[in-house]
Amino acid sequence: MKLILLGAPGAGKGTQATRLAEHYQIPHISTGDIFRANLKAQTELGMKAKTYMDAGLLVPDELTVDLVMDRISQEDCANGYILDGFPRTLAQAAALDAKVQIDAAVDVEVPDENIVSRMAGRRVCPACGEPYHTEWKVPKKEGICDRCGAELIIRKDDEPETVLKRLVVYHDQTQPLIDHYGSMDRLVTVDGTLSVEEVTEAIVSALEARA
Ligand code: AP5
Repeated sequence: MKLILLGAPGAGKGTQATRLAEHYQIPHISTGDIFRANLKAQTELGMKAKTYMDAGLLVPDELTVDLVMDRISQEDCANGYILDGFPRTLAQAAALDAKVQIDAAVDVEVPDENIVSRMAGRRVCPACGEPYHTEWKVPKKEGICDRCGAELIIRKDDEPETVLKRLVVYHDQTQPLIDHYGSMDRLVTVDGTLSVEEVTEAIVSALEARA
């Protein structure tokens, strides 16, 4: 199963990708997590990506495409993968389409007005990437990741002004991918305002209906 998760920043792509990766037993590949891991390790890529990420802008395609093409060529991707946050531009989609045929692009739809409050409550694990929320997904022990025990953090790009900028960038550069995958008959749309469990169920049933 080769899946793409589309959706605005904070729509729940990472949350759903983790659950779907477990369900289908395939790797979850998040370009945002890869850039953050590079930043933590202070690599050249991480330092370059930081400037764009902190400003709420997209990292240039030339830094992103090869990275993903290389990752999906690895052995653990032989049975498929879930791409979370890639592609994000029509040029990235063209590069992916030229290499593989995906099974579906899942658009997790959440109106802009829900996004800012979601992001305000988001906490993430800097070690394993698991997302939490102060209201909707509270860790068992306050401030600590259930999965790996690391201390949770607030992402720098979750400041309200940066979130608004990311939304503008999303509508301008990433939303056109919905029509792109629709025209290829690969699009699955789910209501991302439902509970986390309901969204996963909606995605799995829509994918089963297409199989
Ligand atoms: P990235 O890390 O991919 O950020 P994003 O797409 O903006 O998405 P988020 O991670 O913010 O949100 P999400 O949709 O995963 O939601 P989550 O599950 O956390 O990218 C960061 C930056 O990296 C980009 O801005 C860009 O600079 C760069 N980048 C990455 N990929 C790139 C690419 N391909 N090209 C160029 N640049 C790239 O959920 C959000 C919150 O809501 C959480 O607190 C969660 O617990 C909660 N939540 C989730 N689902 C629900 C629900 N159903 N109900 C209630 N709460 C929920």
